[in-house]
Amino acid sequence: MKELSKKLFTSSHESAPTPILADTDNFSANPAFDQVLALRLSRRAVLQGGMAAAAALYFGSSAMLRSAHADDQPAGPSLKLKFNAVVKNKDDKITLPAGYSWSILLATGDPLAAHISPYANDGTDAANSFRQRAGDHNDGMHFFGMDKEGKWDPQSAERGLLCINHEAITAAFLHQQGQTIVDGKRTSDAEVMKEMLAHGMSVVEVRRNGKTFSVVKNSRWNRRITTFTDMKITGPAARSPQLITKYSLTATRTRGTLANCANGHTPWGTYLTCEENWAGFFRRTPADDAKRSANELVALKRYGLNGKGKELWATVEPDTADNRFGRWHAANTGTSNDGSDDYRNAANTYGWVVEVDPFNPDSTPKKRTALGRFAHEGAWPGPVFTGQPLVWYMGCDSRHEYIYKYVSSALWDPKDANGGLAAGDKYLNDGKLYVARFNADGSGVWLELCMGKNGINTDSVPYNFKDQADVLINARLAADAAGATKMDRPEWGAVNPRNGEVYMTLTNNALRALDKVDAANPRYYNDPKNGVAQKGNANGHIIRWAEQDALPNATSFEWDVFLFAARENADPATVNLSALSSDNDFSSPDGLWFANSGLLWIETDDHTYTDVSNCMLLAAIPGKVGDGQSRTIINTDGDKLNTINTHIGATLGEEKLRRFMVGPVDCEITGLAESPDGRALFVNIQHPGETTSGKNFSLNDPATWLSHWPAGGTSRPRSATIVIT
Ligand code: FEO
Ligand code: CA
Ligand code: CA
Repeated sequence: MKELSKKLFTSSHESAPTPILADTDNFSANPAFDQVLALRLSRRAVLQGGMAAAAALYFGSSAMLRSAHADDQPAGPSLKLKFNAVVKNKDDKITLPAGYSWSILLATGDPLAAHISPYANDGTDAANSFRQRAGDHNDGMHFFGMDKEGKWDPQSAERGLLCINHEAITAAFLHQQGQTIVDGKRTSDAEVMKEMLAHGMSVVEVRRNGKTFSVVKNSRWNRRITTFTDMKITGPAARSPQLITKYSLTATRTRGTLANCANGHTPWGTYLTCEENWAGFFRRTPADDAKRSANELVALKRYGLNGKGKELWATVEPDTADNRFGRWHAANTGTSNDGSDDYRNAANTYGWVVEVDPFNPDSTPKKRTALGRFAHEGAWPGPVFTGQPLVWYMGCDSRHEYIYKYVSSALWDPKDANGGLAAGDKYLNDGKLYVARFNADGSGVWLELCMGKNGINTDSVPYNFKDQADVLINARLAADAAGATKMDRPEWGAVNPRNGEVYMTLTNNALRALDKVDAANPRYYNDPKNGVAQKGNANGHIIRWAEQDALPNATSFEWDVFLFAARENADPATVNLSALSSDNDFSSPDGLWFANSGLLWIETDDHTYTDVSNCMLLAAIPGKVGDGQSRTIINTDGDKLNTINTHIGATLGEEKLRRFMVGPVDCEITGLAESPDGRALFVNIQHPGETTSGKNFSLNDPATWLSHWPAGGTSRPRSATIVIT
C-alpha cells in the first residue's frame, strides 16, 4: 500500500517541485486537526463531547440540540485555538502555521485513469482527454468514507471517494494561445470542447498515503461529470412544458451540469452539486425578445438571460448533429409552439441542485427541482433526526438575492442510509420550499413558496405563476412576491453540530445602497483600495440563526450577525464592528464549514482587501445566537446619514478567531472536507493567477502572470485540491 501510493503520487506529479512532494517520506502519525484545540473536558463534555455532538447529526434527537441551544454554551468540550495566527501576505505560495504541511492531491488536468498522460499544462492536452482528467477551478467538495465492499462508511478514514466541483475555467491557460475568437465567434471546435469538458465535477477515489492522501488513478469509481453528462429531471417541475427542449421532448432529461459552485450531501451517502452562475453561459440576444410573451420576458430578465454567452460556446459554426454548441443558444429559433425543435427552454434545465451517487459510477445524476431554481451556491443539510423531515439550507449567490430552506415531506428512516438515488427520489422530490425574511427585531420567518400562498398566484405582478412547477422554475420571482429579505450575496452555509444553529456567509454587495440597508444587511461604507472607492458592503458578513425550538423544520427563527468582515484599521463604530485585529481581519467570506468538533472554518473569495493580502482560511470558535447585543450603526456617505439597528454576536477576539492559512496570488480559497478521523483537511485553491485580461497580461510573457502556483518557475498556474496535515 505504501509503495503503491508512493508510486502513484510521484508519477502523477513527477514534474512538480520539491515543496509539493515534501513530507511524503515522513509516515509518522500526525496529530488530528482537532488537537489544535485543547479540550477542557467538563462533566457535560463527557456526555456530549464533540464526537457525540457530531453523531447527533445522524442519530441524535432534537431535544438534545434544544438543551444545547438553551444553555449558555454549545454542548461539548470547551475549545481553544492552539496555533499562531498566520500573517497576511501577498506571496505566491501557501502559508500555514508552524507544524502544518500540505501536499497536492488533484490539480487541473491531472489524470483520473492510468492510461491518461500527465498534464502537459501548456495548452496541448487533447480536449477529449478531459473526459478523464480533473476539470478546472476546483470548488465545493465532500469526503465520503468507503468500506471494503465499496459502500459508504462515514467512519472510514483510510479510503474514500472525494467529490470535487469544477466551477469554471481560466480559459487562457487551457489553450496554447488562449481562446480563438474571430468577429465575436469561437472558431475552434476543439477549444470549446475542452472548455465544456473542463466544467462539471470529479469523483476520485483517495487513499491514505502516509500522513496525507493520494488519488487512486485506476479506481473504477473515478468519474468525470461534465456539460455533456446525461441528467434526469425529477420532482415537481419534471414534464413541465417549460422544460421541453429538442434534447428531451418529455422534459425529463437534460444534458450536463455547469457552474458547479458549492455543494451538499445527504444522509444516504450521495453528493449534491449546485448550479450557480449558469445563466451567463447561455446566449440570448435582443432579437429573441419579439418571440417571447411578456411573462416570459419578466422571467428571462429576472434570471439574467440576456447576453452573448460568457464563453461564446453557442457561436461555433457549423453546429454538430447533436447540437453540442447550439444548445447554449436559449432563443426561440424553431417553428414549434412548444420548444421541441430548439433550445429556447434550455436555460430552464439549469439552476438546480443535482444529486450524484459517487458509489455508483454508472448512475445518471438527477436534477432535483423541488429545491427550486436559482443561482445555487450549495445545499447544506440540517440536523438529521429519525422520524422527522430532512432539511437543506441554500443560498442564491447574487447581489440582493435570498436564503432558502427545503423541508422534505418524507420523514427520515435510518434504513435509507446507503439508499443511493432511490432514497433521493423519496426525500428530494417532494417537500416544501421556503425563503427567509429577517425582521428588524432579530426574529425571522420562513415564507413558503407555494401556489396560492404568500402572494404567489396566477395574477401576481409582475409575473403570473401557472402552477407549482412554475413557482419552482421561477423561485426568485416567487420569493420576490413572498417578500423575502434581499441579502448581501448568500454564499456558503454551515450547521453547527453542537447546537444545530445555521451560519451563512454574505460575501459582499457593491449594490447595497445607503438608504437600503436593513437590520440583517446593515452596513454601507467605503473601503478604498489603492485609492479607488469601494462602496456598499465591500467586505461582507456572516449571519446565523437558531430555528424555533431547535426544530429544523420550524417556520420561525432568531438571528444575529456572527461576524462583520473588515480591515483591522476600519472604523470600529461603523465598519469593524467585530473588532478584528491583524491576526484575524479578512474580507469577503465565502466558504464556511464546521468540523465535527464544532470548530468553524471560514474561507475568503476576495477582491477588495487584496491590496493587503491574498485570500485566506480562518478558524473560529463560535458561541451562539444572542450571545452579543443590539447595536446602532450610523452609515454615512458624504453628508448623508442612515441610522440602523442590528444584532451582533459576542466579540470573538484573537482567542477565538485566527487566520490559519493564506493562499497564492489571485486565488480563491474554497471547498472544505475532512477525513473522518480529523487528521487531514482538504482545501481547494481555486484559480491562482486568474486575471488574464488587461494590458498588463500577455500569454507569451510568463513574467506578466500573477501566479505560477503550484509548480513555480514560468509554469502556468493551476487550481488544485491540497491536503493539509
Ligand atoms: Fe461560486 Fe458564489 O461562489
Ligand atoms: Ca463560492
Ligand atoms: Ca464566490
